[in-house]
Amino acid sequence: MSETEQTTDPVEVPRHAELVDEQVVAWYFLASLVYFMVSLSGGFLMAFQLIRHNPLDGVELLSPGRWRMVHTNAIAYGFLANAFLGMLHWVVPRLTLHPVLDRRLSRLIFGAWQFVVLSTAAGLLLGEAQALEWGETPVWIDPVAQLGLLLVAINFMAPICKVQGPLYVTLWYFIAAFIWTFLTYAMGNFVPEYFVTGSSAGAVGGLFIHDLVGLFVTPLGWGMMYYFVPILLKKPIWSHGLSLVGFWGLAFFYPLQGIHHFLYTPIPMFLQYGAVLSTIAVELVVTTVVINFFGTLWGDGRKFWDNMPIRWFYTGMVYYFLTCFQCALQVTMTFQQLIHFTDWVVGHAHLVMFGVFSMWLLGVMTYLFPRLLKREWYSRTLSEWHYWLSTGGILFMAGDLILGGLFQGWSWMGLQPWDHSVEISQPFWATRIVAGLAIFGGQLCFIWNLYKTWQLGPAVDSGSTPSAERAVAE
Ligand code: HEM
Repeated sequence: MSETEQTTDPVEVPRHAELVDEQVVAWYFLASLVYFMVSLSGGFLMAFQLIRHNPLDGVELLSPGRWRMVHTNAIAYGFLANAFLGMLHWVVPRLTLHPVLDRRLSRLIFGAWQFVVLSTAAGLLLGEAQALEWGETPVWIDPVAQLGLLLVAINFMAPICKVQGPLYVTLWYFIAAFIWTFLTYAMGNFVPEYFVTGSSAGAVGGLFIHDLVGLFVTPLGWGMMYYFVPILLKKPIWSHGLSLVGFWGLAFFYPLQGIHHFLYTPIPMFLQYGAVLSTIAVELVVTTVVINFFGTLWGDGRKFWDNMPIRWFYTGMVYYFLTCFQCALQVTMTFQQLIHFTDWVVGHAHLVMFGVFSMWLLGVMTYLFPRLLKREWYSRTLSEWHYWLSTGGILFMAGDLILGGLFQGWSWMGLQPWDHSVEISQPFWATRIVAGLAIFGGQLCFIWNLYKTWQLGPAVDSGSTPSAERAVAE
């Protein structure tokens, strides 16, 4: 660039340190990893109970039923929410070139969110859970969490509102996620509790559990993919038109899907059929998004092997396509007869929550930790183990549970006694523990690698500037 051009350039790009509070990003990531490990321990306790080997037999406060709720809540609100918040504190300021509304607010929200997660865990173990799936949070915590979500939205919307000109697709997804998460949480935690009862409450509960995935986790997940993938591949996204289809398709079809958790219940049939149709429609939308990302990778296939974050991202996308395809099948009334309430659904849930969104977040952490710590990863071998144990472990676990679910369904459809289905499930449930150990081992490699990276190593340049990232993303 010539000197004249430099003096006439009207855009003054703030420095990274002015934009991003790296400490907060690191805190969120570390908190998320702690809850992740706690959650996995809860998963193991429940899994051992199912093969009749509860290691804490007789300890009521630590009974597997309570740990099951800690397992699921710690994943959703402890691991995923914290990791997403850390990611948002990096991405939003760099993409908008404006810091969050107030750094002190970020720190307050960090503390408040940990309070929400920890008191939820304590409440669940003390028997204070509400009878709402995914909304088990003790009743007095709900308003605190709701207020927290509002503050999160305000803190990030401030820089987004300052952007002049068209918004990059990542920001559409993030804006939608802030609004939808706030509304979804309110719908699931207050409406069935105070306003509706019976099958109406069931319908709202169904919408809530699925909208948590579709309107909180999914838009944040895809939003961050639209940000990180072009930066790492050093080229723009393949088709802007397809990004539009993906975003608006999600917005139109996702909100109706949740009732598909309660097919064959007293909920009116028009709602059940609506859920079936919108679920199949989302599968078509998802295909366009996946095509868009593979179109972007086209010609750079080598990077899948060389670049660890890209490998995490694209593996997650393959799993994403598989889960959505599975969903389009399992949502039909015919298929539901076989797999309803079986481990097929549990296999599906693990594939989505770990195989997709956790994989993406672990990829983001693999990319960002060296930048936060100003050091290269201590060991590429440990990173490889992390990836392969996680990828193999989840494939093994999901395959095992999906197959087990089919056998359970056939047993029930054949009108065998209930005990029969429990007996035939034992080998599948034992196999789940082996697969779980692989996933757990993978995360231990990651944490050990992180610890060693933190301990030693020379400082490195933190990578591209915000303006360069923005140019690539646009
Ligand atoms: C690593 C070892 C893991 C083990 C041993 C494990 C075990 C379990 C068990 C036993 C259940 C209860 C199933 C039932 O009630 O029949 C469960 C549920 C669940 N787990 Fe895990 N889990 C593991 C990892 C994960 C991970 C990594 C995630 C997500 C990131 C996850 C997300 C879930 C979800 C969403 C459910 C609820 C499923 C449903 O209600 O359909 N689990 N898990």
